[in-house]
Amino acid sequence: MIYLDNSATTYPKPQSVINAVGEAFSKFGANPGRSGHSFSIKTAIRVAEVREKIASFFNAESPENVIFTSGSTEALNLAILGSVKKGGHIICTSNDHNSALRPIFELEKQGLVEVSVASPKSDDKLRLSDIMPLVKENTYLICTNHISNVDGMETDISEIGRYAYKNGILFLVDSAQSAGHKQIDMLKQHIDFLAVAGHKGLYGPMGVGALVVSSKVALRPIKFGGTGTFSQNLTQPLDIPEGFESGTLPVPNILGLGAGVDFAIINQQKICQKLDDYTTYLNYQLNEIPGVKVYTHPDNANGVIAFNVGEMPSTEVSDFLDEKFGIMVRSGLHCAPLKHKHLGTIDQGVVRASISYFTTYSEIQKFLRAISILAKNDKI
Ligand code: ALA
Repeated sequence: MIYLDNSATTYPKPQSVINAVGEAFSKFGANPGRSGHSFSIKTAIRVAEVREKIASFFNAESPENVIFTSGSTEALNLAILGSVKKGGHIICTSNDHNSALRPIFELEKQGLVEVSVASPKSDDKLRLSDIMPLVKENTYLICTNHISNVDGMETDISEIGRYAYKNGILFLVDSAQSAGHKQIDMLKQHIDFLAVAGHKGLYGPMGVGALVVSSKVALRPIKFGGTGTFSQNLTQPLDIPEGFESGTLPVPNILGLGAGVDFAIINQQKICQKLDDYTTYLNYQLNEIPGVKVYTHPDNANGVIAFNVGEMPSTEVSDFLDEKFGIMVRSGLHCAPLKHKHLGTIDQGVVRASISYFTTYSEIQKFLRAISILAKNDKI
């Protein structure tokens, strides 16, 4: 099998991640932050270490600003629903995933907020100049992804963050496709909410992520229950992170994520280089194949390449790659309908190949060969 669907989830996972998950079951099997016995405390210390790692990796204000979630969808829901300002205005972007768009448009449907969607005017980047004309008196939140999960387009989060900070607007960044291989500095880039997926560029297990917040935000919880703190109260405590982490934490996933962050740190240079080289190479080579249309701008060498083969439905291309060559890619709309409207691919969808640290040059060659065969309509 050739796995080129790393934007959906990276595979394989590093051995260190697999070991950390196993160790969580064998050595850190108590419930952290609940009971006061030493086994629970030992587990809680390991969880706290991962919180510290995440805070330091993204230069957050403190480890306490890291709220563990089930993934980036829950992180985005918490940021958007937990900071809602009745009568306010949110700006999101056509690059965003449904995990951000759906909670935002739910708030609009309930009559709580107005929404504007910013689209990139150029085909290489989403910039502040695409956002600024939409800002209104009541704009309180700008939400954007850092890297599009469809075509790898980057958003200039530094200039948008600076603007949001100067204008008293909260800034939410969805880093699902960028965390682990793009530099993110919450303090420098003025990010108030960073939604993190654990199982993509951080090489951790599925089922864990984080919302990292700045101290500026007044967040309200969107889930309620036991926190192990203020247990005499019948109402939800608002202390971060515990008040926002009701329910038993997924310790094996969290410790696996910790090992994944270590892997991303140790291999950062190699990962960035590989993603850059392979995406650039794929972009060039796919463009050389007659009948193939590439949607990813060459400047966006972010590990994601989006293309179509003639008028073929993208799902037929991915089925062909799977059935005839054992190559796994994702096609269709990638849960990002506004991006596809913008690209003009809402009916055809696009085929997306995405790479990771573990992708090899020979896999890339086999993939390109398969696409040339398909484009020429050759017999296999
Ligand atoms: N959001 C993930 C993807 O793009 C699942 O495939």
